[in-house]
Amino acid sequence: MKTILLESTSSTNEYIKKFLPLGEDVALCAVRQTAGRGTKGRSFLSEEGGVYCSFLNFYRDFPASEAFRIMAHAAVSVCRTAKFFGAEPSVKWPNDIFAKGRKLAGILIENALFGEKISCSIVGIGLNVANDVSALGGIAISLAEAAGKPLSPKEVRPVLIDNFSRKSDLQEYLSFVRFWGKEVRVTEGERCYTAIAERVLEDGRLEIKEGGACPHPLRCRDRFEHLRGQYEIRKKLQRSLGRKI
Ligand code: BTN
Repeated sequence: MKTILLESTSSTNEYIKKFLPLGEDVALCAVRQTAGRGTKGRSFLSEEGGVYCSFLNFYRDFPASEAFRIMAHAAVSVCRTAKFFGAEPSVKWPNDIFAKGRKLAGILIENALFGEKISCSIVGIGLNVANDVSALGGIAISLAEAAGKPLSPKEVRPVLIDNFSRKSDLQEYLSFVRFWGKEVRVTEGERCYTAIAERVLEDGRLEIKEGGACPHPLRCRDRFEHLRGQYEIRKKLQRSLGRKI
């Protein structure tokens, strides 16, 4: 996979969209981001010392119903990386990565959907490595702290890219999810309740059990984040491919 490292950019998830017309897989990293983006429209603190990478992947025949595989793979890539450096990572469903009860990394996925298929995806990973996360009031942790040794983004970046390039499966993802049998707080629209987390289904839904009721699956709400300007992207792709998609 072609790999690019920038000194600074607003957001690697935005910058990587320049490569969409080429139709090739790319990994794009930045030393820092000036407008890092998180899920649900939040910003993501991206100072020097962290690893900020986006991966653009094209698919020939990827059913949209299997979108969770992309999310699970991203989570596994980060967990493998954290483990490699000596930390004990865990996944908070669906794909926040924690260590010692604090957030180690965040993942932002944007899928381009054409009909029932995903034609390409952008997976953005922000991993705290040696950056100062104290401004986040104790909710975040760096890989250096989690592993108990000094680490630099320079040594972590290639390991993350390598781990992302290797295949993974649902079993490996599940091996990093650690809240089975625990109580979870669920917000479904207006309704807020507690339930027990039972398991993650193949399609990424979390099966929960509420009181004496039968288990029921919970959709992972940000499972689909559409690429902004999808229409323009489609037109660009059509132009470069010379055919309608
Ligand atoms: C979250 O936890 O809310 C997701 C954070 C995702 C941050 C990464 S850093 C690389 C890529 N570029 C961005 O602007 N965001 C993602």
